[in-house]
Amino acid sequence: MADKKAVVVGGLGVIGRNLINTLNKDPAWDVVGLSRRVPDFKSDAEFISVDLLNRQDAEQKLAGLTDVTHIFYAAFQGRPVWAEHNAPNLAMLVNAVEPIEAASPGLRHVNLVQGNKIYGSHLGPFKTPAREDDPPHMLPNFYWDQQTWLAAQQNGKSWAWSALRPQTVCGFAVGNPMNITTAICAYAAISKELGLPLRFPGKPGAYTAVYQVADAEILNKAMLWCADSDAAANEVFNITNSDFFRWSNVWPRFAKFFDLEVGDVQTISLTDFMADKGPLWASMVKKYGLQDIAWEDLVAWPFADYVFGTDWDVMTDTLKIRQAGFHDSVRSEEMFLRLFQEFRDMKVIP
Ligand SMILES: NC(=O)c1ccc[n+]([C@@H]2O[C@H](COP(=O)([O-])OP(=O)(O)OC[C@H]3O[C@@H](n4cnc5c(N)ncnc54)[C@H](OP(=O)(O)O)[C@@H]3O)[C@@H](O)[C@H]2O)c1
Repeated sequence: MADKKAVVVGGLGVIGRNLINTLNKDPAWDVVGLSRRVPDFKSDAEFISVDLLNRQDAEQKLAGLTDVTHIFYAAFQGRPVWAEHNAPNLAMLVNAVEPIEAASPGLRHVNLVQGNKIYGSHLGPFKTPAREDDPPHMLPNFYWDQQTWLAAQQNGKSWAWSALRPQTVCGFAVGNPMNITTAICAYAAISKELGLPLRFPGKPGAYTAVYQVADAEILNKAMLWCADSDAAANEVFNITNSDFFRWSNVWPRFAKFFDLEVGDVQTISLTDFMADKGPLWASMVKKYGLQDIAWEDLVAWPFADYVFGTDWDVMTDTLKIRQAGFHDSVRSEEMFLRLFQEFRDMKVIP
């Protein structure tokens, strides 16, 4: 019988969806997912459709959650302007945690997923490898506001909090704004259909800069480790696959997987050049018997442009979480190839 109950806030996202699938396999956990949409996949989890930007809706829908032991917070609201992220993302955290905390006296842990943007990884070159005790970039930064609020909210309570800082999370989800793996897969499939080699579509400097990513599976394991580890109580940790790579080193392996020649770097805006590929994708869905996922839901191209435009090193120091006791790792190249095969098996790509 389950002795722990998790609420996964943002249960349809690239992080939350994969965490729900992992928790469902473990009889020790009961699972509740929160999102506005209903899930597009089969799940043993209970799903509550709630708009966390609406306090009244959150209070009404979450009041019945009286036996929650763990909150895993991985919801996100994107905004076109950086400074506009703070208000909605802080409000969603507050509107999720406060009603659940009030209803569930047995709450033990709240884990918050942040990201490397707290160090300014999105702004341009920053101090690398970044460490957890490095100061944030000049505020505003919504992760900083969320962490500050959560630490203050926990002060003097019996539960603990933790925060994890991954970079570019890799896993499956649809309709989400940040997913580099589906972007690479769809770009490669379109290139192949058009008889093109697999050109790197980003900036020349991004092809050779040092980069890092976080497998959703590793991140999920780290979230679960945080949830039950004394060493994680009220602490912040960087988390990645633990290796570094350059796109120039892994791109030939990607080309081989998709049975394509490796092309040169040719910088294009994927947002612009993929805008007219919906009808081509629809024809490929029919031709190859793929899942009928709407082109707009399959990939959010601005995120791919951002990742492939990062022509500076992105490196965080992950010693802190290792020294505290979390040791899982995966070679990023192997992770990408595993995910590409999974997406092919799921008939997401040809
Ligand atoms: N993806 C990455 O590569 C990456 C990398 C580093 C850090 N992070 C951070 O990790 C966190 C989670 O990101 P993610 O990429 O997993 O997000 P995501 O895939 O966009 O998922 C966001 C989740 O939040 C839910 N949500 C959004 N607005 C909501 C609302 N008003 N009420 C209830 N639920 C709402 C969404 O479901 P509905 O739309 O159905 O409501 C979805 O389930 C963010 O802080 C992000 O910055 C992500």
